[in-house]
Amino acid sequence: MFCIFCNNSYMYIISDQILFDEHSISLKVKELAQKISSDYENENNLLLICILKGSYIFTADLSRKLDIDHDIDFMATSSYREDTKPQELKIIKDIELEIKGRHILIVEDIIDSGQTIEKVVEILKARKPESIEICSLLNKPDKSKVDIHIKYKGFDIPDKFVIGYGMDYDEKYRNLNYIGYLEELND
Ligand code: IMP
Ligand code: MG
Repeated sequence: MFCIFCNNSYMYIISDQILFDEHSISLKVKELAQKISSDYENENNLLLICILKGSYIFTADLSRKLDIDHDIDFMATSSYREDTKPQELKIIKDIELEIKGRHILIVEDIIDSGQTIEKVVEILKARKPESIEICSLLNKPDKSKVDIHIKYKGFDIPDKFVIGYGMDYDEKYRNLNYIGYLEELND
């Protein structure tokens, strides 16, 4: 795909170089699902919490590859921007299920600075789950500003703005079946 658009003084191009194609994503999701299924095989109260909107496709695929019983709930936070202070992050859609005493697995599309996931963990921990772990398809280690353990991690990626497989730029490109990235032409 080849698409150009402008945002203030910048012009972007959607790279035709794919970071991860449909097959590599599918293999990785299967691998993560196998680990999770094996780790939680003796528990019967696993709850996946999908962080909207970016992880809706990853959560749907991961869930269908798990071979253990589990529930799913959804949470959305105010979107994080470079100039947002972590304490300003707010829940804009909370989960509906009670999590006290349950095993919680937070499912994220991507961890960038880590500030969103850190805040989500803090909020959920206060509700006294039995355990809480993180599963993120992507992680940008160079951008990390927090010390957080990602127990189930798909791929470490370079500091690029990625799109597709649920992830957007300005609400677009979530439906791509691969993960690509945006490149700035002005460099
Ligand atoms: P963080 O708080 O900096 O870790 O970023 C959290 C959220 O920002 C992620 O869960 C994504 O929804 C979004 N995000 C971060 N990096 C990207 C990206 O490269 N593409 C699309 N969304 C992103
Ligand atoms: Mg996200």
